[in-house]
Order: sequence, then C-alpha cells, then structure tokens
Amino acid sequence: MSGNTADPEIEKSQENIFSYLYKLELELETVKRDNKNILDKNADLENRFNAVNAELSKMRKPPLIVGYVADSFEDGTAVVRNSNGMQFLVSMGSDVKGKVMHGSRVTMNQQTLAIVNVLNDENDPQAKAMELVEKPDVRFSDVGGLKNAIMELKETIELPLTNPELFERIGVEPPKGVLMHGPPGCGKTMLAKAIATETHASFIRLVGSELVKKYIGEGARLVKNVFKLAQKKAPCILFIDEIDAVGALRSESYSTGEREVHRTMMQLLAEMDGFNNRGDVRVVAATNRVDILDPALMRPGRFDRIIYIEEPDENARMEILKIHTKKMGLEKIDFKRLINITKAANGADLKSICTEAGIFAIRAKRSKVTQKDFEKAIAKVTKDKQFLLGSSRIYG
Ligand SMILES: Nc1ncnc2c1ncn2[C@@H]1O[C@H](COP(=O)(O)OP(=O)(O)OP(=O)(O)O)[C@@H](O)[C@H]1O
Ligand SMILES: [Mg+2]
Repeated sequence: MSGNTADPEIEKSQENIFSYLYKLELELETVKRDNKNILDKNADLENRFNAVNAELSKMRKPPLIVGYVADSFEDGTAVVRNSNGMQFLVSMGSDVKGKVMHGSRVTMNQQTLAIVNVLNDENDPQAKAMELVEKPDVRFSDVGGLKNAIMELKETIELPLTNPELFERIGVEPPKGVLMHGPPGCGKTMLAKAIATETHASFIRLVGSELVKKYIGEGARLVKNVFKLAQKKAPCILFIDEIDAVGALRSESYSTGEREVHRTMMQLLAEMDGFNNRGDVRVVAATNRVDILDPALMRPGRFDRIIYIEEPDENARMEILKIHTKKMGLEKIDFKRLINITKAANGADLKSICTEAGIFAIRAKRSKVTQKDFEKAIAKVTKDKQFLLGSSRIYG
C-alpha cells in the first residue's frame, strides 16, 4: 500500500528529532556564551597577572640590599652576608635559583631579604673602582730633595720593569714589595705617582683608609681582585697608600670590624706571597705610621725593602720652594731667608706657603708675588699648623 498519508509514527519521531535538534541548538548557544565568558575572564585574569607582574618587577628595582652568597642549599635558601658582615639565611626566587652560587653578588628585597637577582661583575662598583687606573702627571723632577729615595725607587721598581734581564744575569731577585715610610706631607704619595709616570706602567692606587671605610666587609675580596687586575694590566705598579689602615698590629680581642680589617690584611699577605717577584707587577706601599704596622707585613718576600722618606733639609726646602714657585710671577725673593724661617716645614707646608703667598698677591691685585707675601704666608701656615697639630707626632 502506498500513499502520502503520513504515518503518524514517523511524524512523531520527526517531531522528536526536530525538538531534539532545537534543544541542541539552544545548548550550543549556551556553550558559546559560556565560552565567551571564559575567554573574557581569561583576558581579565591575564591583565591582572600582567599588572601584578609589573608591580613585582617594580619591587625588584633598587633600592635593594647587596650581599654576597656564603653558601646556598638545595631547598632554595642561601646564606648571604651583607656589607656590615652580618649573615642571613634567605630564600630566593625560582628564576634565580640555578644562578646563585658561592661568592655570587646578589641583590635582595629590603623587607623580605629574598634574593631577587644575581649581579654580574660589570655591576660591581668595586670592579669599577679598581679600573680607575690613573696616569698621574707627576715626575721625579717635581720632587724636591729625596735623591737617595728616588734612586732606590728607581732600582727596586723601575729597573725590574724596564730591564728584568739585569736581575736575571746577576741572579738576584728584586724585592717584591717596597714600603715607603716617613712623616706626613714629605712626598710619599707624590713619589709613587712619579714612578708610575716615569715607567709608563699602568698604575693602580688602593687607599687603605678608603678600603676600610667604603668597602666594609668587602676588603679582602677587593684586595684579591686588585691583584688580579694588576696582573692583567701588567706591566703595572700597584700602590697601596696608607697601608697602616689595614696593616696595623691588632690586639687579641677583635671586634667584628677589626676582624674584617684583619681579614683584609691576611688577604694582602696571601696575595704578596702568591705572586712572582720577577713578574711585571711591582707593589709599593706607603705609611706614616710604620710604628703600628704588623711586622708580618715586612717579612722577607713581602714589603722587604723599606725606604725612609725624610723631612726636607735646607737644600731640599730650597728645591721644593723653587719647584712650587716655578710658574709664579715673582718679585725679587730672598729664598735663603725663606728657608731659614721654615725650618719645621715639610713639603706640603711649603706648597701651602706658595699658594697662600699667591693668594695674598691676588687679594692686593698685584701680578707679582713679593717677599712680604711669602712672609705673611709663612706666618699663616705656621699658625694653622699649630692649630691643627695633634699630639700624635711620631717622627722627629
Ligand atoms: N719633596 C717634595 N717636593 C715637592 N713637593 C712636595 C714634596 N713633599 C710634599 N710635597 C707637596 O706636598 C703635597 C703632599 O705630599 P704627599 O701627599 O706626597 O705627602 P705624603 O708623604 O704622602 O703624606 P702623608 O703621609 O700624609 O700621606 C704634594 O702633593 C706636594 O705638592
Ligand atoms: Mg700620602
């Protein structure tokens, strides 16, 4: 039997399918809407994440505390020493974990002390301080008197750098370290600079008092790096000025600060022992407190050549006055009289006297400096010095 009369059964199931399809469509709409919601939410979360991240990287910006890693552990913690020598057990972010090693220089969050970054050596102000290899503009001819000292410095520092074969031929070792000592203001620092200029060697100056003041807790590390740098810059003169600030003999009972200074000196001794005296690094130190130096510094193989830089005698005072007045416009000056009334003056005093005399002339609107200017300057400098002179005179 055939016909187009719809079979009610079939009609029924068609209806079912349509309603089912309709339901599916509705569901699809919902899913689409949900999906959009989720995408929106995702975008929102992403925005918030970025904002927090930006905040975080702001927090990583300075001021941060700088410290050195003394030890690091598997669990993501490390022992860090700050520049006061205090030690902390701190945590570290997962992004720096693999990079934190013993000796690393790191920055830490001020509040939590968590390590946020590992600094490389270019960020190290010490490295910069040491790169400060100055080429001073002082010559031996600018130094008045001190002929013997100059000769000795030439033999012990200049000659091994310029003619090492002389020492090889004779079979002697040049002294490793030279220590200049003597009263203040007589030309020690000046001589060290002059050697550097005269030898065309690089010149690194390390100042003991600054080492102690500025690089608290980092002195030993700095000394180590300075010696490394000197080797790299060879031929090189490494000048340690005011060595007494690190090399003073200390009593048994150390304070934390003193222990730190002592560590710096021990490092200095280790470096002195470690390098070859035939090499082209020469070490010169200066002090006006040789009386308080640790004798360990002056043992053979360390600062074993000691040169005394004396106060100027009559001839030296004359030379020094002539040097410092070389570029001044002068009336007729009785230098003989000037050196007779400056018996207690050192090189630095004589230089101030010349400067003061010049200032008197400028004040009087003159273009030449007179004998009177000098005598007034001598009176002024003597008075200032009396005023400044403490009780700690150890020479003379
Ligand atoms: N012999 C000298 N000839 C010429 N100028 C000198 C002499 N001695 C000192 N002066 C002058 O005095 C200044 C200070 O001298 P210098 O710094 O060399 O003294 P110093 O011995 O290192 O003193 P300190 O022990 O206080 O460090 C020099 O810059 C220089 O102008
Ligand atoms: Mg000096």
